[in-house]
Amino acid sequence: MPNDRRPIYIFDTTLRDGEQSPGASLTPEEKLDIARQLERLHVDVIEAGFPASSPGEMRAVDMIAREIRGPVICGLSRMLPTDIDACRQALEKARKKRLHVFLATSQIHRQYKLKKDKREILGMVSKNICSARKDFEQIEFSPEDASRTEPKFLAEVVRAAMEAGATSVNIPDTVGYAVPREFSELIHFLIKKNPALGKKIILSVHCHNDLGMAVANSLAAVLAGANQVECTINGIGERAGNASLEEIVMAIDTRKDFVGCRTGIRLKEIMKSSRLVSSLTGMVVQPNKAIVGRNAFSHESGIHQDGVLKKRQTYEIMDPKRIGWVGNQLLLGKLSGRHAFLERVKKLGFSLSSADLDRAFKRFKDLADKKKYVFDEDIESILENDMAKFPMAWKLESMKVHCETSKQPHALIRLSHENQRFEAESDGTGPVDACYKAVEKIVKSGGRLAHYGIQSITSGIDAQGEVIVKLQVGSNEVTGRGTSTDIIEASVKAYLFALNKIAARFMSGPSVQSSL
Ligand code: KIV
Ligand code: ZN
Repeated sequence: MPNDRRPIYIFDTTLRDGEQSPGASLTPEEKLDIARQLERLHVDVIEAGFPASSPGEMRAVDMIAREIRGPVICGLSRMLPTDIDACRQALEKARKKRLHVFLATSQIHRQYKLKKDKREILGMVSKNICSARKDFEQIEFSPEDASRTEPKFLAEVVRAAMEAGATSVNIPDTVGYAVPREFSELIHFLIKKNPALGKKIILSVHCHNDLGMAVANSLAAVLAGANQVECTINGIGERAGNASLEEIVMAIDTRKDFVGCRTGIRLKEIMKSSRLVSSLTGMVVQPNKAIVGRNAFSHESGIHQDGVLKKRQTYEIMDPKRIGWVGNQLLLGKLSGRHAFLERVKKLGFSLSSADLDRAFKRFKDLADKKKYVFDEDIESILENDMAKFPMAWKLESMKVHCETSKQPHALIRLSHENQRFEAESDGTGPVDACYKAVEKIVKSGGRLAHYGIQSITSGIDAQGEVIVKLQVGSNEVTGRGTSTDIIEASVKAYLFALNKIAARFMSGPSVQSSL
């Protein structure tokens, strides 16, 4: 990478602000899986969570801090000694760590939320940052709701944070209210008042997408001199989400002629990161989403197709291969052997134990019997979704579903659990409902289905369906995934996956029956 372009640090907050998306809750183990992928993606900073918010968050940040060695690991904290202490504990084992403290500064937040005046805000910023310095070399300060704060007061707060020892200052557009020119002017103004920003002190921006301008505002800030962008994979986050990492990174890369900046992101890992976050959070990527949506590189119009065939660049400003798009690449079929399968698994970036390889190969063979073409996406779904890292105690033995116009669908489900067999039948409002009711008659988890989503993994009438469910049992919520060429079977598998995960994570005994 030529180094005449200005470096922009990528601060990924998928595991903190991203996880604040409604329904996107992740277990500590799932957060660690995503953190491993973010390390492969080469982000500069991983905001791993908010340790003071719950014991699960504390454990997740601690697990990530112990294992991830490349990026800086960051923990979020309010301006409270107890929160700062929780970050100190959670980040203790990190090789490189950062404390991220925030305090609201806008008039509306000062008056109604904090009930504090400007002088008190300045005092809290100086005192807490100063005292955190004994435990942290890197301290990031965010004046929450910065874009609605009086610019002169904002510059004063930023100065107080810098004088107290903040090493990065982050300017959040917390409610997604800014427009690009205005946000750019704010960044220029802050740099004018505090010239170390964007040089000795990292100047970061953190934009929300309420008006659909998070990426545009972040880019405007970069052009104005910011040198760090906070963003999330697939743009997930509180309400309408955060600036999307893949869009920012590809805008900086594709328009380097104009932007004059670079990031250290490994572009080839973008698609894989997007798929992993979507499958673990259960948040499906909209087909027309820039960069990572299924249609992002499809050309429907004949004129466009003709142009692309003659010269790709006529209608494509990015080469999809650079971000790890394999498209519907034809891969293996039912005659493919174990060796060819292993080679493809390695090429997709997975390394499996020999027992896992045996299981994955068997799943691949079953799939190849049902499906004419097995694509890379199918193999990835086997490796990511079906290779559960916990015992699949409840297994689907068989199912029979009857649907007929103007009659209630009916399901007969047979499950096994530790060599015992169970059978139940039920009607339902639809075939999936009938199956879930029959499963519940056997398992009696008392779980509530908080979310059900379905998408096809590849194109074609024989494509596999991927079902993602969120199941709430007591105070625990987990995500379950199931794939199959039969979408009703995929639905049952997703439900059982969630039940088995709950049993493995939260229960001491092997059974999940009624005790849940
Ligand atoms: O949006 C926001 O203001 C935040 C801060 C904690 C940085 O997420
Ligand atoms: Zn935010």
